[in-house]
Formats: sequence, structure tokens, C-alpha cells
Amino acid sequence: RYINMTQDKCLVDIHTHVYLPEYLELLRKREQVPRVLPPLEEGQDERLIILPDEDKGESTKNGRPVGPAYYDVREKLAFMDKHNIDISVISLANPWIDFLPPTEETFDLARRLNVSMENMCQDPITHGRLYGLGTLPLSSVEGSVAEVERIAALPRMKGVIMGTWGCGKGLDDPALEPLYEAIAKHNLVIFLHPHYGVNLPTSGNMDAGHSLALALGFPFETTYAIARLILSGIFDRVPDLKMLLAHSGGTLPFLAGRIDSCVAHDPAVASKLNHPPSYYLKKLYFDAVIYHATGVKATADFVDPSQMMFGTDHPFFPPLESKDARWMSVDSNLTAIAGAGLDEEIVKGILGRNALKIFNLEMPSK
Ligand code: URA
Ligand code: ZN
Repeated sequence: RYINMTQDKCLVDIHTHVYLPEYLELLRKREQVPRVLPPLEEGQDERLIILPDEDKGESTKNGRPVGPAYYDVREKLAFMDKHNIDISVISLANPWIDFLPPTEETFDLARRLNVSMENMCQDPITHGRLYGLGTLPLSSVEGSVAEVERIAALPRMKGVIMGTWGCGKGLDDPALEPLYEAIAKHNLVIFLHPHYGVNLPTSGNMDAGHSLALALGFPFETTYAIARLILSGIFDRVPDLKMLLAHSGGTLPFLAGRIDSCVAHDPAVASKLNHPPSYYLKKLYFDAVIYHATGVKATADFVDPSQMMFGTDHPFFPPLESKDARWMSVDSNLTAIAGAGLDEEIVKGILGRNALKIFNLEMPSK
């Protein structure tokens, strides 16, 4: 097995998902989206239908195949070996448990998911190559704060993954403040990941399948939710809150100037903040899951590149042909990082060293 094994030259994947067995079990029982359907034909994989209205689109209604790469830790390790990834910081995939009501049963599931994630990261076959991000029962702030306390006590958990839903009213909901405070207090990182899109009609005159929802709906959702969060002034009140934005922050590095300008010209909004919006944006962390050098360059130009980290989005976007091939989705991100014209030391940071520091990770034992 090849891994890089040195802090100086390591590859760390901070955007990589699992559907834990407890979660798949829940999705299999459901009759509404999000849900898992049985295989179309015997011997094929089960199918995942999770995105809003995915069951209504002609080409999306049969979902996406969900095989062992989605839940088997051995597949995660094999994928890491294939691409020389030393460490992965794994997170449950969307839509987490946002859709469950604030009941004891939901709190119990969150607890079980986080213990299951911790156990996966502690499995001896992983040789210390996995860390985890926890899942919160977000329909209850109290329940989520209690779960943050438990997550903070699990040694391999380094943060939580969250969507933009908050507890139903977005990330800028003042009710979430005790949760942000608890997360900051424990020095955990919020990995902010989209799921809901931006409520545009899902179908136009053509069937775009999943492509535009994932390519554009996801980053537009992140862009809007984080802009709202910043305008709420949360980062003046909880300045230590660490937040990592999926997909290089959606379009935020590109649109930050426009957000600054529009806020500056609206004194009622600007007066609620101590600084222009981009001041807060520049304190956030950004993954490098943007696939083109232009996107990497824009992000590295906007934030200090020591705040950027490599990711793969495994097990999504698998190769369509040979199962043995390296994944195009991984290689396009590696090529984009290598081709962005950044100094060698900066590149090494994005590939691994930044993640070791930001998430406080240790190199795996030899
Ligand atoms: N599709 C999803 O549903 N989630 C991801 O994270 C990537 C692709
Ligand atoms: Zn993802």
C-alpha cells in the first residue's frame, strides 16, 4: 500500500462522504424522498433518491446507484490507496437527518450515527487514516447542542457537517446562535455543504438530469446561505466559529466584491456589521473541489491559500467506464490545483498540510 507518510508531502481529503448503515436503514424504510429504492434489476445496486423533486424528473426518477463505495470502509480505503490519499475526514452525505422531527428517536439516531462514524474511524483496518465529522439533529437546537457535547468527546471527530437548512429557517436564524457557540467552544469545524438548491423550477425545456442541480444549484445555495449568515452579524458575535465551505464557497470568491458593494450602498444593512462582508468571508475555509484551475486561482486569490483544502466528494462522481481506473473527478481537482500557478509550498498546503493544521490531525501510524 502506498501512502505518502510525511507531513510535508501528504494528501488529505476533507470532502468525502459515507452513508452509514444506520442511515441507509432509515432511507430504505421511507416512502418519500430522501429514500433508497431496491435495485431496478436483480444483481444491480440499490438506488438513492435524495434531491428535492428528484423523483419527478424523467431521467432522475430512478435515482443513482448506491453500491458498497457508499457504505463500506474497505471501499473508502481502496479508493484512498488508488489515489495516494493518506487521510480522509469523512462525513455523512446529504441530506443528513434534516428532515426528521425533533423527537427522542431522532436524537437517538444522531447519537448512533456519530458513534458509528467514530467506530469506523477507529477500525484497526484503517490504521488511523480516517477522521470524522458528526451529524446533528438540527430540527432541535437544544438536541443539537447536546449532540455537539457528545461529538466533542469522541476522539476522532473533528467537526460537524451541516446543510443550509439550519433548523428550518436558514443559517442566519438567531435561534442557532447557542449551537454556533457550542461548536466554537469545542474548536470544532462546521463543514457547510449544500443539498437543497435554490428553488428554481427543476425542469426547463430540456431534461438536464442531475447535472445542473449539482453543478449550479449546489454552489448557488451555498453562496446565498453564507451571504445571509454573514449579514446576520454572527461572525461579530461568535468570531471563533470555524466554517469550511464546500465547492470552494460556491461562487463567493467571485461575487464577494459585488456583495461588499451592495451592502456598502445599503446603510441599514451595513450598519449591522463591524466590517464589510468579505472581511468575514476571508476568515472561512474553502475546499478545492471546483475542478478547474480558474476556480482554484480565484479562491486562492481571494482567501489566504492556507485556508484551502483538497477534497474529492467520493463516492459521488465515480468513473463511468472501468472500475479500476483512477477517478476523473479526483484527477481534475489535482490538475486544477497543480495548474493554478501557485508556489510549490502553497500547493503542498492545499493538498494536505493545511488540513492537518486546521482539523488538528495526526499522520497515520506507519
Ligand atoms: N451529489 C450529492 O447528492 N451530494 C454530493 O455531495 C455530491 C453529489
Ligand atoms: Zn459533497
